[in-house]
Amino acid sequence: MPKRPIQRPDLAGPFPENVAIIMDGNGRWAEGKGLRRVFGHRRGANVVRDITTACAEMGMNSLTLYAFSVENWQRPEREIRYLMRLLERYLVEERPTLMENDIRLRGIGRLADLPAGPLATLRETERLTADNTGMTLRLALSYGGRSEIADAVKSVVEDVRKGALDPADIDEETLRAHLYDPHTPDPDLVIRTAGEMRLSNFLLWQASYSELYVCDVCWPQFGRDQLLAAIHSYAGRVRKFGGLTGPKRAQLGPAH
Ligand code: FPP
Repeated sequence: MPKRPIQRPDLAGPFPENVAIIMDGNGRWAEGKGLRRVFGHRRGANVVRDITTACAEMGMNSLTLYAFSVENWQRPEREIRYLMRLLERYLVEERPTLMENDIRLRGIGRLADLPAGPLATLRETERLTADNTGMTLRLALSYGGRSEIADAVKSVVEDVRKGALDPADIDEETLRAHLYDPHTPDPDLVIRTAGEMRLSNFLLWQASYSELYVCDVCWPQFGRDQLLAAIHSYAGRVRKFGGLTGPKRAQLGPAH
């Protein structure tokens, strides 16, 4: 597939190579217009398409989208059925766009919980896009940060039980290697739409030092301008990872 030239925005600071998004507010957006909640999800799926393409065009390394949480199984059956159908359709219809933009798609989460149809379609889309080398798009499906850590611990214990791992060797990297996709990078930036100031069980391990950006617009209204605003906000941040960097370090001098 022909590769498109990367178009990085002009920024005053670093570009967020790895971004994760909590796509919230589909229901509120629809209800605010007197529509059923599912219309918000349908519009939300179109926004997924546009934002994914925009991120790939900017040459982002990875984009992780919170599409369905472990807690979302508690929603009314009709809404779940609609979301699963939408997911399956998206995973088929999106294939040409993923190929055209050199995007590799992967699912993370308790994927075995998905109905057979969407799961098979997900696996097929993963297979078809596996050799793409541009951005990796991860869809978090039946995903929870706590479940991910619990599942990783189970898998570590299993390795210990089999004698493949010495408990004395367990460190942070061991646990990371047992997450759903050990290659999921720590997001530089986590964006949340629709105004709530929380992580809602998203990427709890990976987001330890992520920069957070919350905007008021609901996901169906989120567009390239809002994405750019988030990226500009990130470019203006000073990241310290618990240490001292930038102006503070300069003030204190090298001895500190
Ligand atoms: C949150 O809005 C959104 C979801 C639970 C599902 C996200 C799904 C999509 C964006 C569309 C389908 C995705 C793909 C990948 C095809 P909400 O329903 O919690 O909104 P509310 O907080 O206003 O009720």
